[in-house]
Amino acid sequence: MKTTRRNFVTSLSMLAAYSAFPISSFDFGTTKKLKIVLVGTGIRGTSFWGKRLQDQYSDILEFVGLSDINPGRLAFGKEFIGADCPTFINFDEMLKKTSPDLVIVTTKDSTHHEFIIKGLAYGCDVLTEKPLTTDEGKCQDILDAERKSGKKLIVGFNYRWSPYATKIKELLANNTIGKLTSVDFHWYLNTYHGASYFRRWHGQKDQGGSLWVHKSTHHFDLLNWWIDSDPKEVFAYGDLEHYGSNGPFRGDNCRSCDHKLKCDYYFDITKDKRLMDLYVNNEEHDGYIRDNCLFREEIDIYDKMSAQVQYANNVSLNYSLTTYSPIEGWRVSFNGTEGRIEASLDIPYHEATNINQAEMHAKEMEQNAMEEISHESIIVHKNRKDFEVLSVPMEKSGHGGGDKRLQDKIFKTADAMDPYDRAAGSRDGAMSILIGIGARKSIESGKPIKIGELTDLEPWIKRNNVPASN
Ligand SMILES: NC(=O)c1ccc[n+]([C@@H]2O[C@H](COP(=O)([O-])OP(=O)(O)OC[C@H]3O[C@@H](n4cnc5c(N)ncnc54)[C@H](O)[C@@H]3O)[C@@H](O)[C@H]2O)c1
Repeated sequence: MKTTRRNFVTSLSMLAAYSAFPISSFDFGTTKKLKIVLVGTGIRGTSFWGKRLQDQYSDILEFVGLSDINPGRLAFGKEFIGADCPTFINFDEMLKKTSPDLVIVTTKDSTHHEFIIKGLAYGCDVLTEKPLTTDEGKCQDILDAERKSGKKLIVGFNYRWSPYATKIKELLANNTIGKLTSVDFHWYLNTYHGASYFRRWHGQKDQGGSLWVHKSTHHFDLLNWWIDSDPKEVFAYGDLEHYGSNGPFRGDNCRSCDHKLKCDYYFDITKDKRLMDLYVNNEEHDGYIRDNCLFREEIDIYDKMSAQVQYANNVSLNYSLTTYSPIEGWRVSFNGTEGRIEASLDIPYHEATNINQAEMHAKEMEQNAMEEISHESIIVHKNRKDFEVLSVPMEKSGHGGGDKRLQDKIFKTADAMDPYDRAAGSRDGAMSILIGIGARKSIESGKPIKIGELTDLEPWIKRNNVPASN
């Protein structure tokens, strides 16, 4: 289907399905292209929301401005994206000079709120990378700003769009195992991918909100969507026992480290041209060290996390996230009144295969990677019957093919109805981070945290329509 301006506008309203306001940014019937600005020309901003949009959708959209606080990364980003537009260190100046229709936010997590709120207040629709933000106060400010603006906020939840996650949604929505009662969900990050969070800004709570927010927002969003209810209460445990000050030694960065020969986590960034161009060559501007020591003292996030979540529809969830596993993969099981669904991805023992974890991490981090198709199983076991193994074809890269489908939905097939309700707006963004924020507070206080007390969003029994009675 050829993408038209009207298709695009429709897609924005579908993605932000919870608001009654119509999208009003664009004039219908004109041939003008959608004017986009992007703030945050790091790896995600330049690749997935930069070069990919420029390469795939330039018939309907154009970058009119790019912004970042690091001038070197900004200049490199413009060249990498291939956009013919001005660049700005000052975001406000960019808004004033370019009058965009859509602002894309791909900065560090703790700064998302600033650009979301300014963009909405300026009269633009806004598309932000996950997580929506990093604490409940900023979250409330974002919700207020969206309500006041009448504009739309889209959260780029790509995991929902992978065929595997969608198949699970379909099975649950069809009541394949009767009424859902409880869920076990466990995610394992390997010593490459898991470790990478501790090398970067993600290692500090005040920058990424901890992995409870930065990483688990993906998982909690999937769970909220699968369970089809809002979280009501969370109780959590967590600690930092492996990275940070637990390490036997530390240095300034891997390149200059005296311990590189004996460190299991030594990482040679000089072998990666893209990381050199983006980060190392621009250290002089902001001092950001991409191959920072994962044993540095300032790391204050958790590296093992475990939570129990009670949903408004009475489903209970057992959740864990591990950051130094020999494998990278995940497992989920759903218990219902009439059976059980088991699903997992990348657990090598299941197939007795040996996956090279370093290669797997490199492939996932390469955000414009080529597609490689695999067939993955989901087990459906109805009570008193034989189990059935379903086979789901899906891509190995780009978050299971979710990245590509999310963008195609926004920019290419906007008019097609989505029976799986994969579009995510501010309420989804909020509900997924509020579990992680609540988990952090629970660890700090030793008490369960009520989600409804964090912002003015009341948990609903069924997502998007029925308020829960407390
Ligand atoms: N959905 C996904 O699967 C996925 C994958 C990767 C990253 N992300 C998200 O994308 C965002 C960017 O992540 P990344 O990996 O590209 O990080 P990055 O460190 O490569 O890029 C962040 C950029 O933001 C810039 N920046 C920081 N503070 C700023 C400010 N105050 N004003 C302007 N620019 C500022 C930095 O200079 C940098 O260029 C994060 O929110 C992350 O959670 C999402």
